[in-house]
Amino acid sequence: MILVTGGAGFIGANFVLDWLAQVDEAVVNIDKLTYAGNLETLASLKGNPQHIFVQGDIGDSALVDRLLAEHQPRAVLNFAAESHVDRSIHGPEDFIQTNVLGTFRLLESVRGYWNGLPADRKAAFRFLHVSTDEVYGSLAPTDPAFTEENKYEPNSPYSASKAASDHLVRAWHHTYGLPVLTTNCSNNYGPFHFPEKLIPLMIVNALAGKPLPVYGDGMQVRDWLYVKDHCSAIRRVLEAGKLGETYNVGGWNEKPNIEIVNTVCALLDELRPRADGRSYREQISYVTDRPGHDRRYAIDARKLERELGWKPAETFDSGIRKTVEWYLDHAEWVRNVQSGAYRDWVRKQYEAGA
Ligand code: NAD
Ligand code: TYD
Repeated sequence: MILVTGGAGFIGANFVLDWLAQVDEAVVNIDKLTYAGNLETLASLKGNPQHIFVQGDIGDSALVDRLLAEHQPRAVLNFAAESHVDRSIHGPEDFIQTNVLGTFRLLESVRGYWNGLPADRKAAFRFLHVSTDEVYGSLAPTDPAFTEENKYEPNSPYSASKAASDHLVRAWHHTYGLPVLTTNCSNNYGPFHFPEKLIPLMIVNALAGKPLPVYGDGMQVRDWLYVKDHCSAIRRVLEAGKLGETYNVGGWNEKPNIEIVNTVCALLDELRPRADGRSYREQISYVTDRPGHDRRYAIDARKLERELGWKPAETFDSGIRKTVEWYLDHAEWVRNVQSGAYRDWVRKQYEAGA
């Protein structure tokens, strides 16, 4: 049994779906179901006894203590977070509540549970914290990619809150001996991505005939990793990572935003041409830049490859094509997110006694 937090969000849900497809071990999934949590994403697991979903907050110590005591997991994987930079700029409070205070409370619950385990299970236990490359700050064009040795220099309320959570995890290892692992990953993309982030927003806006808002000059650089590759990296780190270590996860796919948007437009031009025969590129609209916008992120993932033998399976070309095709094939999932109907999945799920 493993316990996953935030498993109704983009990466957490992809992780739970992949885990249950590949590993014969049950998952307790605790998720608060904020706007980013979507039980419809987990619809294929309905009735699966290997998936126990609990709506709840990682900061609710009484609930988390009870779940740990009841299910006796061998590992806790912390995906739960407020994750969108733009939202963190407009309203940082939730980011501090969940990413900082929530992680602190979760660590305390896990420490209490771990301390009570018999010696063999205590030694085998793992707390894996899922974090971001944004904690390292912004790179100049000629800087080498982030390694695990880079200084933490977070610039947005989101990255500062994630940096704080990483430091707490580190301190709980050094001070209390909690067996922790941390992964710092670059920008993910793929199925079930909430359409407020760059790639899914561009796909759904393009199809809806809306403008494609590119911040500033569109020359900000991100490294992109297909979400399933992030999930495989997390499984590998959980299995073989060295306690107390951090692992950078990335796709070796540095690209300026405008190139990403142009690629999405070209794929849509091919797969779902506009009725008027013109390119989706005509919908691109340059808008005011994000305040404090980090110019460049790049990940050096060689430690993970060298020490644990992990490599991404997808190239950017194969991953972005799969992603665009997924959105074209899942119009109802998108419609339910846009209309807000996905929120009803909570009620339906409980009414069905799941
Ligand atoms: P997401 O916003 O799609 O999902 C977050 C999930 O956490 C949601 O289901 C939400 O309901 C849940 N949640 C929020 N607050 C909670 C709380 N207090 N208690 C319990 N559940 C709560 O985010 P994501 O993109 O899936 O990111 C998952 C993790 O990976 C985050 O920790 C994020 O910082 C990290 N990360 C994301 C990316 C990326 O590109 N998306 C890259 C690197 C790291
Ligand atoms: P985003 O998907 O929000 O991820 P992050 O800010 O965590 O990297 O944004 C990715 C990049 O795309 C980032 O440089 C901001 C930019 N961006 C736009 O240009 N337009 C948009 O509408 C969005 C959401 C993002």
